[in-house]
Amino acid sequence: MALPISRGRISHTVRSEAGWLMRALVAPLENETIIRRAEQKFAAHIGRTECITFPFARTAIWATIQELNLPPGSRVIMPPITIKPILDVIVHLGHEPVFVDIDPTTACFDERELAEVVKTRPAVAVLTYLFGLVPNVDRLVRILREHDVFIIEDFSQCLNGEFNGRKIGTFGDVAVYSASSVKTFDTFGGGYALANDARLIAGLRRRQNELRRARRTDLLKSITRNFVRNLASSRMLFALVTYPTLRMATKFSKKAVGRFTGARSTEPLANLPDAWFRRYTSVQAQVALSELPRVTARDALRRSAIDHVVASSGVTDRPFGEPGQHHVYWQFIVYVRDFPRAREALAAHGVDCATTSLVLLTDLPRYPGQRATPWARRLYDLGVYLPCYHQLRKSELERMAVAIRELAPSS
Ligand SMILES: Cc1ncc(COP(=O)(O)O)c(C=O)c1O
Repeated sequence: MALPISRGRISHTVRSEAGWLMRALVAPLENETIIRRAEQKFAAHIGRTECITFPFARTAIWATIQELNLPPGSRVIMPPITIKPILDVIVHLGHEPVFVDIDPTTACFDERELAEVVKTRPAVAVLTYLFGLVPNVDRLVRILREHDVFIIEDFSQCLNGEFNGRKIGTFGDVAVYSASSVKTFDTFGGGYALANDARLIAGLRRRQNELRRARRTDLLKSITRNFVRNLASSRMLFALVTYPTLRMATKFSKKAVGRFTGARSTEPLANLPDAWFRRYTSVQAQVALSELPRVTARDALRRSAIDHVVASSGVTDRPFGEPGQHHVYWQFIVYVRDFPRAREALAAHGVDCATTSLVLLTDLPRYPGQRATPWARRLYDLGVYLPCYHQLRKSELERMAVAIRELAPSS
């Protein structure tokens, strides 16, 4: 009997995470030399003048928007699906989110809708690349630049993606990356801001210096959470404990069970939490220095795995990005008609799956800017995350291809 295939894996080995946990118990958290070295390596890797580290990507966005000194009520173009804290930052800073629906084939902004929205004089756009898919960046950036919109690229899901040979993260005025759990480059949390403009860099540095000291307990919690996820998704434990538990929970139909890493809150925040404003630690910077050289090789494994599954299953109804570009497939998504049915059909082959844990920001009645975004809604409800990580084996890929091919038309 073949072992079930987990919906997701952590990029680190269990052993290396145990090692980081030990180090995090005793190592200094504020070694500036190590932090600067990691910043320089990441900036050079992407091809930007400078990288400034923050505890979260949301904090990097917060710092950037503060530096722009926008008048209150400025309009900020947002994707309808991303993490909610980014929306919390925009709203907290007194600005107005303006949502642009996605193009179902790229999971990025729909170009026609974007071209209309830029006429309403937005100040900023958070250009978000989902699932490691590269859209037609030239066209999106041209639409935004023609209207002088300040571009923040969020490439948390698209590290090492390229458009026409140029790295994602080099197109906007600022680019942010989140090195959080489950990402292809994961340093137990962390948000990187990349920029070329000297004034902006100086401002971001000043904001970084104003952050409070990091707390060791926060770091230990973050590594422990990853470690537990890592164990729970490792082949044997997943087969013996996690998968049977998930299957059982599914029977009692807890909605969160179907979400990739569980359900998230949808309520507005009265205040931005203190933990968002504490420094990135030198332990995390050390993780970054050790992990960054490994990312490209893992990308190559994941890309060829997905290319293989796509070719042998023949699946076409999925977001695939701009043809011919260098996609990195942080996730492999296919659209289905009925998620519970598709889940059962895949489970018959031992393939675990999920829908996104990101939040549909246009379904939050207590937030401003609410409107219908049907393509984002479809992705949120019916875009299924299939296993997609560098640890997948050949036999698992074959099984996934068979399972996808056999998905009944009604699934
Ligand atoms: C598109 C995107 N942006 C940002 C983040 C995370 O940002 P933060 O570092 O603020 O948690 C994620 C994490 O899942 C993400 O998918």
